[in-house]
Amino acid sequence: MELKLLFALAFLLLTFVSGVSSGSSHYYFTSMFTLGDSHIDTGNFPIMARAINFPAWVNNPPYGMTFFGRPTGRQCDGRVIVDFMAEEFGLPFLPPSLANSSDVSRGVNFAVGGATAIAVDFFEKNKLVPFKLLNNSLDVQVGWFQDLRPSICNKTKGSRRCFNKSLFMVGEFGVNDYNFFWMANKTEDQVRSYVPSVVKRIALAVERLIEDGAAHVVVPGNPPSGCLPSVLVSRQTPDKAAYDHVGCLRGVNGVVEHHNKLLRKTVGGLRAKYPHATIIFADFYTPIYKMLENPRHFGLLASGVLKACCGTGGGAYNWNASTFCGMPGVAACPDPSAYVSWDGVHYTEAVNRYISEGWLNGTYAEPPILRAMRN
Ligand SMILES: *[C@@H]1O[C@H](CO)[C@@H](O)[C@H](O)[C@H]1NC(C)=O
Ligand SMILES: *[C@@H]1O[C@H](CO)[C@@H](O)[C@H](O)[C@H]1NC(C)=O
Ligand SMILES: *[C@@H]1O[C@H](CO)[C@@H](O)[C@H](O)[C@H]1NC(C)=O
Ligand SMILES: *[C@@H]1O[C@H](CO)[C@@H](O)[C@H](O)[C@H]1NC(C)=O
Ligand SMILES: *[C@@H]1O[C@H](CO)[C@@H](O)[C@H](O)[C@H]1NC(C)=O
Ligand SMILES: *[C@@H]1O[C@H](CO)[C@@H](O)[C@H](O)[C@H]1NC(C)=O
Ligand SMILES: *[C@@H]1O[C@H](CO)[C@@H](O)[C@H](O)[C@H]1NC(C)=O
Repeated sequence: MELKLLFALAFLLLTFVSGVSSGSSHYYFTSMFTLGDSHIDTGNFPIMARAINFPAWVNNPPYGMTFFGRPTGRQCDGRVIVDFMAEEFGLPFLPPSLANSSDVSRGVNFAVGGATAIAVDFFEKNKLVPFKLLNNSLDVQVGWFQDLRPSICNKTKGSRRCFNKSLFMVGEFGVNDYNFFWMANKTEDQVRSYVPSVVKRIALAVERLIEDGAAHVVVPGNPPSGCLPSVLVSRQTPDKAAYDHVGCLRGVNGVVEHHNKLLRKTVGGLRAKYPHATIIFADFYTPIYKMLENPRHFGLLASGVLKACCGTGGGAYNWNASTFCGMPGVAACPDPSAYVSWDGVHYTEAVNRYISEGWLNGTYAEPPILRAMRN
């Protein structure tokens, strides 16, 4: 045998062996299909907003200042959670589904800012919102996936296998639903009473995707909305007992905790119903609290933990509902990675990175995504 060939073979063997011994290949997932709202939107919101001449402030600097160097439609200074996951799997950043990308074989992102779990006509018919909503709720996003499905996978024999190596994500959903109920001046008990129907819609979407061939589905819970600068300003109260040890609103987070508990339990039920699928509950709540409780450990500014990096007004929250990030003259803090909140509503890239690491590898997902993909 020629020496050159021998070397080549040895090299192949070595890479093969090391691939096996590490227990996983980072390239297991060959595509990602994600549904959700602004926390993971990679550009759908500006496309929908443009169609109805609604201003999309996210199109302006300083959005994108940390990573892309320009606004990309992400409600962040840089990458969102699904971007870090795509990087981990060696996939391209997911194109927003509404951009009609010609190549969707490695995945697409259906998430849109403002998306609800409950269909939008419910909020409009019941006069819960004083404006027209974009029609982008969870069931609509599942419909977009089903419309796109034939271009990825033909419904022939064995077509279920098409998505065996795809990672699906359904969420987070619920943040916008509950926000609309709070804004309509519902009481805590009233907002709480909608939790079962929000969770049920998430579960139904997961089932529809599994029936369409999804075999790995991540279902994130809700982050602590009661710690957001925007919510802390709009629901400000002199009642000290309304705030917890880090300064978050107990009532708002109480509903979030109820949602997360019921969602986690419902995911358990889905695992029993679909044993061939891996359904992962991802905790979006604990990692944020960990950072708020111990900011220095995470390289965060202890004095700015409830402040928006990009916003106006100063004070404890740096948030003003009429002059926010993306509007002319609204500046970002010099170092977004020292902040939890980017724009008063969404997290900084630094937080998104920590959360995605926790979901991939750590203790914030059951089971961690990188472990699930070895199964
Ligand atoms: C995507 O395609 C749809 C249907 O053909 C069209 O209505 C829409 O304008 C396209 N969107 C973009 C951003 O080009
Ligand atoms: C939203 O879109 C879905 C799917 O296209 C449609 O069935 C529904 O009627 C629309 N709802 C509203 C309020 O426009
Ligand atoms: C599925 O079949 C249609 C019609 O035969 C074809 O146009 C399309 O390219 C196929 N899609 C895939 C992913 O093979
Ligand atoms: C792919 O999915 C099908 C149907 O769920 C299952 O029977 C099959 O074992 C899976 N194959 C792999 C390689 O995971
Ligand atoms: C909610 O209450 C506030 C303060 O009382 C009031 O200004 C606002 O108009 C109310 N909103 C709705 C939708 O009823
Ligand atoms: C919020 O901004 C508006 C417009 O710049 C300003 O008129 C208002 O006083 C600000 N509100 C607070 C509470 O600072
Ligand atoms: C996962 O954990 C391992 C070992 O602790 C570490 O080497 C690796 O970088 C981590 N990966 C991610 C994506 O966090």
